[in-house]
Amino acid sequence: MTYLVTGATGKAGRHVVSHLLQAGHHVRALTRDPVKAGLPPEVEVVAGDLTRPETLGPAFDGVTGVHLLTVGGDDYATLTTGPEIVELALKAGVRRATVLWNGQLGPVEEAVESSALEWTRLQPVDFMGNMLGWADAIRKDGVVREPFGDVRSAMVDEADVGAVAAVALAEPGHAGKIYTLTGPQALTPRERLAVIARTIGRELEFAELTEEEARERWRRAGHAEELVDLLAAWQGNPPPEAYTVVPTVAEITGRQPRTFADWVGRHAGRFA
Ligand SMILES: NC(=O)c1ccc[n+]([C@@H]2O[C@H](COP(=O)([O-])OP(=O)(O)OC[C@H]3O[C@@H](n4cnc5c(N)ncnc54)[C@H](OP(=O)(O)O)[C@@H]3O)[C@@H](O)[C@H]2O)c1
Repeated sequence: MTYLVTGATGKAGRHVVSHLLQAGHHVRALTRDPVKAGLPPEVEVVAGDLTRPETLGPAFDGVTGVHLLTVGGDDYATLTTGPEIVELALKAGVRRATVLWNGQLGPVEEAVESSALEWTRLQPVDFMGNMLGWADAIRKDGVVREPFGDVRSAMVDEADVGAVAAVALAEPGHAGKIYTLTGPQALTPRERLAVIARTIGRELEFAELTEEEARERWRRAGHAEELVDLLAAWQGNPPPEAYTVVPTVAEITGRQPRTFADWVGRHAGRFA
């Protein structure tokens, strides 16, 4: 079986790849730049851009299942090419798809879910990997400047997102399912910083930004206004799904979701 993983070089996609490999499958990875992909040697790396369907045809040859992103480009803009992507996949004989949503439904989900593909929609809350965005500040002066310091998120380890995607793609019984994915605890940014401080053995300070200061910083980072609104909504006034712990990771993978302390332990070198 060959599985095509889009976003394979990203935080979650790398884990989709590694879990499919561990299960003994052949993995093809799509990237805009194969030279920089840095994937294991047994992965077949192909060039393609989800915003340009004309680049995707060969990527689907002989593929049983595809793991799909719903946003593209470095500004995480919603992909409008869902119908073309699905048409190419179906024409190549692809049968199954996992779709990694981005907080709101868009053309990829709509096209996949109204098609003949056996689809599974993965709805992870914030990835623990987003905390790598704090690493420079922690290493530099130990002060993390962020908004919404007391708002909880049931952050999920992207390794668990990858594990669920691999099961949903390669095993039967997941068609038409929508899986909200969380970690085992809901923590505030201040609590997360305390976990990092304990792990690396340093005192760290949380300096709270106003929402407007945060929006300005996201814009300066090049984020599209659509993403700025989404970040502000999810971080400042999240829906209950964002902070309610659910057992889906354990139900699908058969193992408990990884804790934030575990994630920090595996990435401590990035903060020290
Ligand atoms: N981060 C979160 O908290 C979170 C929460 C819920 C859902 N999600 C969803 O999960 C997805 C993956 O997030 P992540 O944090 O793992 O992303 P990431 O680490 O920033 O990686 C982005 C990935 O998207 C690929 N990509 C971007 N534009 C592309 C295009 N035009 N064509 C093909 N590939 C393209 C990149 O591949 P190349 O650069 O190699 O081409 C890279 O593999 C996001 O897109 C988001 O929708 C994220």
